[in-house]
Amino acid sequence: MDVLRTSQNGQAESLTAGIMAQALRAKPDLVLGLATGRTMKRVYAHLVRLHQQDGLDFSRCRTFNLDEYIGLPSGHPGSYRRYMEEHLFRHINLQAEHAHVPDGMTSDVMEECQRYEALIQEAGGIDLQLLGLGVTGHIGFNEPGSPLDSRTHEVQLTELTRHENAGPFGGNASAVPAKAITLGLGTIMEARRCLLLVTGAAKAAILARVLEGPVTPMTPGSVLQRHPDCKVVVDAAAARDLGMGSQDRPGYI
Ligand code: GLP
Repeated sequence: MDVLRTSQNGQAESLTAGIMAQALRAKPDLVLGLATGRTMKRVYAHLVRLHQQDGLDFSRCRTFNLDEYIGLPSGHPGSYRRYMEEHLFRHINLQAEHAHVPDGMTSDVMEECQRYEALIQEAGGIDLQLLGLGVTGHIGFNEPGSPLDSRTHEVQLTELTRHENAGPFGGNASAVPAKAITLGLGTIMEARRCLLLVTGAAKAAILARVLEGPVTPMTPGSVLQRHPDCKVVVDAAAARDLGMGSQDRPGYI
């Protein structure tokens, strides 16, 4: 893994957006895997600016979001479809039919998971997968215990994750759906490139486990240690618990 440690406030997000923009310029029909959460809001704000001011062109790009809550209408403030519309989709020239988010309102979750996997395959697989990190160590919504080779599937969210994600639900963790659809760890690992963005002191301990601990389903993000092309962008606060020697590794900025 190539760890890029940033020092200035906001630099991690602009670097992440820059890597995504570079990939899109190099391959205009890029298949982009997208993530949600607070961490990504500034990344999407940069991408919107790059589109509006520099003409970054999404017209041939296809996107696949990592996950979605089950049973939440797409207009709900907590829905990831709504998050994506608000922070990215409505501001750029991505074609509506190219912007994929799992359908959490489906009557048949298993069928929706298979449909989503098939759509990704039909698109030729994910070129660049953007990832955030949950405090439980999850990527997408793959909570501790998720098999490292899992495909798109239904998950039961931990209480900690529901608590962490309660913001758009009026701060009420019990209002956060208990279930979600997520790309599996196996699906994520098939992306040709992964780009993990982690910011803030609250993620420092789990980031150290993800990057430097054993590869185990109990720390789902640790599977990225086995990915052949994974960049990790971190800010100073999130990097706090990384091993002393890590600053000397190539790839730090
Ligand atoms: C959610 C998403 C993850 C995201 C995580 C971190 O649980 N399913 O994909 O990485 O939150 O979110 P935040 O950036 O808000 O800490």
